[in-house]
Amino acid sequence: MALTVDDIVARCQAAVGEHTPALAVRDVLDEIVTDPAALEQAVGAVHEGGITTLHNAADLTVLHVAWTPGMALNPHDHRMWAVIGMYGGQEDNAFFRRIPGSLEPAGGRELPAGEVLVLGEDAIHSVANSRKDFAVALHVYGGDFFSVERSEWDSKTYEERPRDFERTQRLFDEANARWVTRN
Ligand SMILES: [Fe+2]
Repeated sequence: MALTVDDIVARCQAAVGEHTPALAVRDVLDEIVTDPAALEQAVGAVHEGGITTLHNAADLTVLHVAWTPGMALNPHDHRMWAVIGMYGGQEDNAFFRRIPGSLEPAGGRELPAGEVLVLGEDAIHSVANSRKDFAVALHVYGGDFFSVERSEWDSKTYEERPRDFERTQRLFDEANARWVTRN
């Protein structure tokens, strides 16, 4: 039986009913990312960077995210647990801590294909794709990703501002245009 988006969502929904939802979702993604060909078959081949919503409800959001080569997204929070399962390319995560009026760096993690990262509710991270392939992943969130108020921070000044999705979309558009021009 071929893997489908419905299967992926159903397995995440079942995991959300478990005692430790984020860890249960991690187990689901750990298994799914072991077969990147099946996952690509289910979600479709990636030709440009972007975010595709596979499921969006009050208790669970499942996104397919493809970071364009050369793309970097400034620090932001989610205010809900998140689990990222990479199945192609690599996503470079940098972590931050709040300090009065700013942020301070708090380490990082390179996330290559086949690995899964769990982020707690208060995590603040930036992501970059420094490779020459799309960095493709399932991003699963323990809530309604699109309606919760969140913050983002300027990459250089670390000034906090409300999360702006249109700005994120412009980052994708610019990175996609640069990538198409170069190739
Ligand atoms: Fe994020």
